[in-house]
Amino acid sequence: MKNKDHADNSLNGASTTGLGHNLGKGQKLYEHAKTIIPGGTQLFSKRPELFAPDLWPSYYSHAKGSYVWDLDENRFLDMSLMSVGACILGYADDDVDEAVIESIKKGVNTTLNCPEEVQLAEMMLDLHPWFDMVRYSKSGGEAVSIAIRIARAASKKEIVLFSGYHGWSDWYLSANLASDNALDGQLMPGLQPNGIPRGLMGTAESFEFNNIDSLKAKIIGNENNIAAIIIEPARGELASDNFLTELRQIADDLNAVLIFDEITSGFRMCAGGVHREFKEKPDMAVFAKSLANGYPMSVIIGKSSVMEAAQSTFISSTNWTERTGLAAAIATITKYQKLNVHQHIKRIGESVKQIWESEAEKHSLNISTSGLPAIAGFTFNHENAQALQSAFTIEMLSRGILGFKQFRPSLAHTEKEVEIYRKAVDEVFLYLTSLNELDISNINLADSTFTKLTKE
Ligand SMILES: Cc1ncc(COP(=O)(O)O)c(C=O)c1O
Repeated sequence: MKNKDHADNSLNGASTTGLGHNLGKGQKLYEHAKTIIPGGTQLFSKRPELFAPDLWPSYYSHAKGSYVWDLDENRFLDMSLMSVGACILGYADDDVDEAVIESIKKGVNTTLNCPEEVQLAEMMLDLHPWFDMVRYSKSGGEAVSIAIRIARAASKKEIVLFSGYHGWSDWYLSANLASDNALDGQLMPGLQPNGIPRGLMGTAESFEFNNIDSLKAKIIGNENNIAAIIIEPARGELASDNFLTELRQIADDLNAVLIFDEITSGFRMCAGGVHREFKEKPDMAVFAKSLANGYPMSVIIGKSSVMEAAQSTFISSTNWTERTGLAAAIATITKYQKLNVHQHIKRIGESVKQIWESEAEKHSLNISTSGLPAIAGFTFNHENAQALQSAFTIEMLSRGILGFKQFRPSLAHTEKEVEIYRKAVDEVFLYLTSLNELDISNINLADSTFTKLTKE
């Protein structure tokens, strides 16, 4: 690709649908990475194969606002995952970065604790006054594992019933020991439980989101051993009022800890958890991603009756005390509240959803959109949907845009970027309608590698 700075430019005419492409520095580096890093990257969702194999730029040299520069200094407008939703204020936000730099200059880790631990706890408790106590870790998966440990310690029981995606940990993947498709309805199909002790079989079971009968079915026979019920309170859709009322009642009847995993939903609908808007409150919640604008930080928050159980087990790590993540979270939440960021990201997300819908209608493309405005996505209703998705991403790349089937808006996305994107979607959808079935089957496939990758 020859583009250096062409997100502002119109169609350059050339389709890059996988043929005759010369590898750039990023693609070459990724080829090498795969030989020394299993899977090539640390995060499944950043594997280039999921977007456009051999064409996705893979690495960035720097980023600012809603733009990313690859290793060949091509500039791309990010209309895709924005660091899987982590950078909610945009890349390299000046206010957050300044707070972090200041914390670095004051020393990031010493024999003593940094007072930001208490400051962030107060901020999170102010946002969620039904909770009393807070613990910290650095990643989402860690935070959920800690919450589950605390819940099991508090309830003195073992089984976890869950719906949603909750990370890479043993407790979660153990659900696939008994049946290798238990996790298939939960965002990531095909996860292999290799390396998980078989002794964990039966300790975690999945149920369907917003389906109370599915939960009840998993309780039968296990009534006395349910430690926790954990859900994502929103992803594609919000938990319904009826579901939440029954869920709360069931957790109380079973004396099980109710946990909301707000790692994706948190800060997407309002400052803090989406459950702030719900009548029913959980006993614990976990946050990561958008909390600290990309810096490593996660929060486990809950009622003291449950959280105190952290003292009856051992939960402790050196890097959970480091200062930059805390400073970043405090600066992110402060800015978020000052600028009412949720209103902006909902508006931008709604506009993008509307672009997908109106442009598809204009070009007679059959698509479906789904998800809350700030966590939205679209799919092609076509038997070769995955190939079309790849073609969409590839064509977007040729227009200087990181485009995908999902979009995570940030404060840095403005009407200007939305208009650039509208024009590109118009052109790309038109192009897609020009493809015949043979063209589509020849497309350099991205998503089709998904199941293969999860089974690797
Ligand atoms: C709801 C939810 N829980 C847990 C996780 C795991 O978080 P992390 O990738 O930070 O370990 C994710 C990540 O996508 C998530 O969306």
